[in-house]
Amino acid sequence: MRLFLDTASIDEIREINRWGVLSGVTTNPSLVAKEGGDPEAVWKEILAEVDGDISLETTELEAGPMYEQGQRLAGMAPNAVVKVPMIPAGLEAGKRLAGEGIRVNVTLVFSAAQAILAAEIGAYCVSPFLGRLDDVGSDGMKLLHDICEIYAVQGYASNVLAASLRHPMHVVESALAGADIATMPYDVFTKLVKHPLTDSGLERFLADWRALHEPPGPDADQQP
Ligand code: E4P
Repeated sequence: MRLFLDTASIDEIREINRWGVLSGVTTNPSLVAKEGGDPEAVWKEILAEVDGDISLETTELEAGPMYEQGQRLAGMAPNAVVKVPMIPAGLEAGKRLAGEGIRVNVTLVFSAAQAILAAEIGAYCVSPFLGRLDDVGSDGMKLLHDICEIYAVQGYASNVLAASLRHPMHVVESALAGADIATMPYDVFTKLVKHPLTDSGLERFLADWRALHEPPGPDADQQP
């Protein structure tokens, strides 16, 4: 399962990218707006920083303008992936873009029926939002399992991108479910590496190592 960061912050991306485990980035209009400034400049910096898929989201609502915007976004760099929302215009624009070999990420997916539609237009990936479903009392992980099963049974080639992940167990469960990609915010990514037994174990190893190298005390040779 490939690991993506869900952010538009270049500082967060640079930090995690140094770990050598980052395969891509997903952005959305809210995340880009949070950074302020010129969205194009924000996207360009991210596209140049990460050697992997970078999802850039369309903001047009009609199929024609969305398609044209998608073409422009895809033209920014070879690693750009165009995000379209799961609405009829998104399907129409996404189908045209995919037909031209542009990689499309269908976003804001909340049902298995929507995931089938995304696969049928030839989307590169489909993004079910797990955390947002959990927020309204639905079972986001159950949806992810269903989508993975449907795609396997039907032989759909689209990647399943588990999105809106809120904690490390979401990531672990997504891997077990068979998701191809998991995207998560910076704070979830940094939690993946943490374990209290790693910290206490390291502390003990280093304390023992320091003790071995400490010079013997003044009473060291005296017999009792
Ligand atoms: C995915 O592409 C979305 O940007 C994202 O996962 C949304 O997550 P949120 O529910 O934390 O906003």
